Amino acid sequence: MADFYITTAIDYVNGSPHIGHAYEKVLTDVIARFHRLKGERVHFLTGTDEHGQKVQQTARKRGVAPSVFADEVSAEFRAMLPRLEISNDDFIRTTEERHKRVVREILQRLFDKGDIYKGEYRGFYSTRQEQFLQSKDRNPDGSWPEIYGEVAEIVEPNYFFKLRSYQEWLVGFLTANDRYIFPHFRQKQVMEFLKEPLNDLCISRPRERLEWGIPLPFDDGYVTYVWFDALVNYYSAVADRPGVWPASWHVIGKDILVPPHAVYWPIMLHAAGLELPRGILVHGWWLTSGAKMSKSSGNAQNPLDLVDEFGPDALRYFLIREMNVGQDGDFSRELFLTRYSSDLANDLGNLVNRALNMTNRFAGGLVPAAGPAGAPEDELRALWEATRPEYLALFEQFQFHTGLERLFAFIRAINAYIERRAPWKLGKSADPADKALLATALATIGEALRLASAALRPVTPASSEKIGAVLGCPPQGAWLDELAWGPRLAGSRVAVSLVLFPRPLPAAEKAP
Ligand code: MSP
Repeated sequence: MADFYITTAIDYVNGSPHIGHAYEKVLTDVIARFHRLKGERVHFLTGTDEHGQKVQQTARKRGVAPSVFADEVSAEFRAMLPRLEISNDDFIRTTEERHKRVVREILQRLFDKGDIYKGEYRGFYSTRQEQFLQSKDRNPDGSWPEIYGEVAEIVEPNYFFKLRSYQEWLVGFLTANDRYIFPHFRQKQVMEFLKEPLNDLCISRPRERLEWGIPLPFDDGYVTYVWFDALVNYYSAVADRPGVWPASWHVIGKDILVPPHAVYWPIMLHAAGLELPRGILVHGWWLTSGAKMSKSSGNAQNPLDLVDEFGPDALRYFLIREMNVGQDGDFSRELFLTRYSSDLANDLGNLVNRALNMTNRFAGGLVPAAGPAGAPEDELRALWEATRPEYLALFEQFQFHTGLERLFAFIRAINAYIERRAPWKLGKSADPADKALLATALATIGEALRLASAALRPVTPASSEKIGAVLGCPPQGAWLDELAWGPRLAGSRVAVSLVLFPRPLPAAEKAP
């Protein structure tokens, strides 16, 4: 059973993971953790997409079997997940038996219904690259690029799925479910696309050309091709788990919305008599100097290098704070370092150390109970009361960057409160009123920090846990209750110090 089932795209195994792949996992993880923290039963799936021409060719070049190559790269993607603190419940590989069985079942069902038929596939074929080409592969002058060698138009018998018969149904569905795709402008793009008549989808390749695939259950001479295999992963992974399907959200990049996720997948499910996912969340691309980060453009940043240097939470925070979900975002080391030092090291990391230092210096390491509050306390608390519902609502609507902006405004307000109350001055005074105020100030600082850190749990789980631990108050009970301002820190013993986001920056940074 699950109340909330969320998936990422499954990654092709023809190259190592980069920031784009890492981002999608982190984004999905933040959503999964957010729902778990709210008390829902969450199921979170990710995995690898392993069949197809490219993998077959790369493996051949390397002189290994496709399965050996796929095992290697899939393991690399999988190993990245714990390093990024991804809390997935399952990892599916399209080469697993549980997946292949379901793909074949669905193909058979659609074949029996008459939705799959044999026809003639016409296309331009490059023998050198052993692949069909599309018009977008042509040079601007209409010729074919050198790398394809000789390109011939060929006709080949293949199997087709009757997409066209379902076009009207899909338009009706998307019209009735106007908010199916987030952000909304993407749904409009899909509707535009659907204004043109759909072609039926070629779903097979003859086995003599493509061996590395799932054989069609009704014709052993063919394997199924690309999307019919890959998309089914979302369902095949949970086919044996009652009450999980349908997915609440598929999280994908903008390049694979139209047509695969917005057209093929809903039609495949509908035709097979299965429920549709509840929504599709489409993120943009990470760019470097204006171009999509990708392995083939040679501008890929290895996310694990940043994790090695700065820890997983720093990368997670950067990715979620910097990207407006649905838009593209720029990645550069400079931008990363700016966020790291201003938000994490300066605003948050310093606050933690100030809170610990002062509690140790002025209260023997025990958070005092708050005494009477004045205007500075009332204002800080009022800011929290306003920030909390806003933050939760923004997270609910996938506006994580704005949610974090608001939360860090609160964190900066805690730092400003410290300046205003100046506990170091109160600590020198013998006046009982100042002593009471000092207790109030330390209690307020501790509580405000505890709240900020608890709120950050979906984004920076490890750091939040550490902050909870050094405040002598590890997270407990329901998360939403944890976000209520209260006296729960009174009497708890704090640690001496905690270096969360070290400054000065690592030595590597100082090198030219
Ligand atoms: N295997 C298909 C997806 C099948 S889903 C049933 C695929 N794989 S991929 O490895 O090319 O991409 C996986 C995901 O990473 C996609 O959602 C894609 O949009 C995302 N990203 C790849 N490069 C990206 C960026 N530079 N920036 C952000 N995400 C991008 O497509």
